[in-house]
Amino acid sequence: MTTALTTKMLPADAAAVTEAARRLAEGGLVAFPTETVYGLGADATNAAAIARLYEAKGRPLFNPLISHVEGLSSAHRIARFDATAITLAQAFWPGPLTLVLPRREGCEVADLATAGLETIAVRVPAHPVAHAILKKLGRPVVAPSANLSGHVSPTNAAHVQADLAGRIDLIVDGGPVAVGLESTIVGCFERPMLLRPGGLPREEIERVLGRPLARPAPEAESNDSQPLAPGMLTSHYAPRARVRLNAQSIARGEALLAFGSAPVPEQDKAAAVLNLSERGDPAEAATHLFGYLRSLDATGARTIAVMPIPSDGLGEAINDRLRRAAAGRE
Ligand code: TXA
Ligand code: MG
Repeated sequence: MTTALTTKMLPADAAAVTEAARRLAEGGLVAFPTETVYGLGADATNAAAIARLYEAKGRPLFNPLISHVEGLSSAHRIARFDATAITLAQAFWPGPLTLVLPRREGCEVADLATAGLETIAVRVPAHPVAHAILKKLGRPVVAPSANLSGHVSPTNAAHVQADLAGRIDLIVDGGPVAVGLESTIVGCFERPMLLRPGGLPREEIERVLGRPLARPAPEAESNDSQPLAPGMLTSHYAPRARVRLNAQSIARGEALLAFGSAPVPEQDKAAAVLNLSERGDPAEAATHLFGYLRSLDATGARTIAVMPIPSDGLGEAINDRLRRAAAGRE
């Protein structure tokens, strides 16, 4: 980015929604709350705006973006829905589910947003502010998480400011988000496939489908140059500190990311402790995960030790993000 922008921050009222839609229509970059994490929006039909978005985030161009729309009828204009896709959309939209679908012919979303793929990722967010902005603009909006590429996703407006001030035009501050994990991504291929665990637990999707979701073959997931969900690079969501998983005890000076009410042996040696959920509730843990990683990182501790977290429900996505936060730093 050559020139620094002045990044305005506005509380999420009607005037902010109007300004957000105007700035997006002019090709600007606007961060806004969704129920999952804060998104960095650009007009999905404006290739120049999308190019600026990739630059502002430092995001690799091969990593495609999710197109956000205000409802199912707008989604039909950019993607082709089969019976499974319609079932999932009706069950979970608006909400924390992204569907990867065949791109419709004549789809107005710029090729840059889909990285030249024949498929497109589509989501209808449930947050009233996101919904109001999409409705006012009347076009699809691409919105990756509003963080620098590879960093922890933002769950409040201050996180967005810390990563992107001077790089984007506007931040709409709608307070902390409700879910705290990015949307679950399902590829509606021959067999519906879980491409990214996220804010909608796999079990709920499988209950509606009446069968298990397929998972990509491990090669497809770990091949960083051509993964099936191209954003699922092994090292991602990374704080500066090293992340040590499944900690059974604490070494002096480590920061501790705790879970549940039972203390870890030697816990008093920790330089700092934050508990994701004392009562062991994965949904509560999800709302705290990214913010606590940022806070523990800010203490300057060299290592964040993380207690084991059960993998059912939202625990699957929490453990996925923690594994990626730990990758490459071991
Ligand atoms: O909750 C969310 O999904 C948030 C909020 C802002 O909506 N957005 C978000 O976007 O997490 P982002 O860009 O951080 O993650 C999008 C993921 C990436 O892993 C990307 O590779 C994948 O979606 N993706 C996008 N288009 C795809 C496609 N056609 N096929 C497979 N994966 C795709
Ligand atoms: Mg992201």
